[in-house]
Amino acid sequence: MLEIQHLTKVFNAGTVNEKKAVTDLSLTIDDGDYITIVGSNGAGKSTLFNAIAGVFIPDSGRIMLDGTNITFEPDYSRSVYIGRMFQDPLKGTAPHMTIKENLALAYLRAGNPRPLSRISRKDEQLFQDQLKMLEMGLEDRMNVPVGTLSGGQRQALTLLMATIVPPKLLLLDEHTAALDPAAANKVMELTNRIVSEHHMTCMMITHNLKQAIQTGNRTLMMKDGQIVLDLKGEQRKNLTIEDLLRMFREGTHEEFDNDRILLSE
Ligand SMILES: Nc1ncnc2c1ncn2[C@@H]1O[C@H](COP(=O)(O)OP(=O)(O)OP(=O)(O)O)[C@@H](O)[C@H]1O
Ligand SMILES: [Mg+2]
Repeated sequence: MLEIQHLTKVFNAGTVNEKKAVTDLSLTIDDGDYITIVGSNGAGKSTLFNAIAGVFIPDSGRIMLDGTNITFEPDYSRSVYIGRMFQDPLKGTAPHMTIKENLALAYLRAGNPRPLSRISRKDEQLFQDQLKMLEMGLEDRMNVPVGTLSGGQRQALTLLMATIVPPKLLLLDEHTAALDPAAANKVMELTNRIVSEHHMTCMMITHNLKQAIQTGNRTLMMKDGQIVLDLKGEQRKNLTIEDLLRMFREGTHEEFDNDRILLSE
């Protein structure tokens, strides 16, 4: 469903600050794949997501989604079918608007274009049912401003907003990293449930190696703008964190290095 061909992105080209963030990266993803991505700091993980989401046009290479070349399509039009979530719970929602208004905006933007005032009783019922699924009691607080929610509640709501109209592709960039362990577990559990219910295609960057090998069906490891490990099927089955670190070491002749790496929990 997603085909990335020879993608390269260089920041500040031709200056002393030149940085090759992604270098000649090629990757093919199948429909329904749930891919975890780990890598050292500055490996180019977020840059890869930015390229897929259309934050910039790559220096070279091509991005195809369901057979369409989207390389030059602007980010706002890709956002209709590519859902995104970031680490910061403050990033995905509008704090002064209510839960209902935030959900309505996400719902209308992603394929149900109508003015906000035209939200129907049926739409509201859908929002309420979806909120109930989070099991956080938010269905009874639809008219409170989102700014009053906890980080975990806000990230769960952002997840709902990103998926209330199931996107073709969901990009999660360390979306549980800023939460306390209990909230992170809860949001992860919701993520897995939503992804599996809708057979969604999903890519998730994480610095939690346990999460990386236990979640989804394929794990990529990145270093210096390239994919250095791509594990799926038999190779990924029964994989331990030690195996992953050893394979990284053998493949790159370096130790895996990420200042936020989590070996467990
Ligand atoms: N807008 C930008 N301008 C200049 N350099 C950038 C920009 N975005 C990223 N970079 C650089 O490109 C490299 C890759 O960054 P990226 O954010 O993709 O890494 P990452 O793998 O997501 O790292 P982390 O695990 O720390 O989040 C880094 O060296 C970073 O400093
Ligand atoms: Mg990043």
